[in-house]
Amino acid sequence: MDRLPTRVRIVEVGPRDGLQNEQQPISTEVKVQLIERLARAGLRTIEAGSFVNPKWVPQMAGSDEVFRAMKRQDEVSYAALTPNLKGAERALEVGASELAIFAAASEAFSQKNINCSIDESLQRFTPVMDVARKAGVPVRGYVSCVVGCPYEGEVDPSLVARVSRQLLELGCYEISLGDTIGVGTPASVNVMLDAVAKEVPIDQLAVHLHDTYGQAIANIYASLLRGIRVIDSSVAGLGGCPYAKGASGNVATEDVVYLLNGLGIEHGIDLTKLVETGQFITQALGRSNGSRVGNAMAGSSV
Ligand code: HMG
Ligand code: MG
Repeated sequence: MDRLPTRVRIVEVGPRDGLQNEQQPISTEVKVQLIERLARAGLRTIEAGSFVNPKWVPQMAGSDEVFRAMKRQDEVSYAALTPNLKGAERALEVGASELAIFAAASEAFSQKNINCSIDESLQRFTPVMDVARKAGVPVRGYVSCVVGCPYEGEVDPSLVARVSRQLLELGCYEISLGDTIGVGTPASVNVMLDAVAKEVPIDQLAVHLHDTYGQAIANIYASLLRGIRVIDSSVAGLGGCPYAKGASGNVATEDVVYLLNGLGIEHGIDLTKLVETGQFITQALGRSNGSRVGNAMAGSSV
């Protein structure tokens, strides 16, 4: 496959992956405003929070409140990250439109992040799938450490393929491949995608690339050429994983949209509104904007 797609879906993970690593308190009001602004900018899938053990990720402890407080748009899917049945029940109670479960392609990362082995995590997801099915709510699956692991180093692509297939067999509608520590390059991402595409149809795969080494845009371009049509990203490049030391934020949504505009690929997002949203959240957090495009456009007061 060496043709670019005509349309791409962006999954905005800023309110969850972006904010989960922030140490400072962030009010529900700011989280809600962020989500509502993203929806107004045209994002149609927004991961709005996570329902994990609040002792593990204190910043997400108020996700119930966020889901209750936000004004929703009919056409937007508000996703919730859920590690187990308890998380799924909490998320469904506050009306999450979809759930996301998360496994890893590295045993060490699985232990550090969710306190169990890869196989145990997959077993924990079975009751999550059951309650989601009963509630008529779709479930997305993440695989972390698809290229490298902060504890184990290089990750075998065949393991990524196996975990991806298992998540698909559990009933996930889409598998998002996470370069959690952002170490991939187009070469390693292509090798990994080749392995996974043998097990999971390419149109059910997404890429979720952290930008630690500045390779995410190059990796997205390589993924688009391989047939990937779904990209996860985080406004202003916010984020990181608390259990992957040194990992920076996801690729910035503004940078992805700019790339897609240049390639003539449709996405449905208003870049000016998105840049304003990036400015809003970085000012609210008192931190610098991780989006090159956001900084360039804000600097030229577009
Ligand atoms: P555990 O301590 O083994 O859980 O944690 P447990 O089942 O033994 O329960 C211990 C206590 O936690 C109990 O309370 C449970 O009720 C409570 P106690 O009896 O002590 O009072 N508990 C919960 N409370 C609220 N909501 C829940 C929940 N579950 C248990 N859902 C667990 C296991 C999985 C819960 C824990 O390890 C955890 O929460 N981990 C989450 C870590 C996390 O959120 N990491 C970041 C997200 S993943 C990521 O960023 C990667 C991604 O972006 C993709 C990529 O970039 O690669 C997705
Ligand atoms: Mg992530």
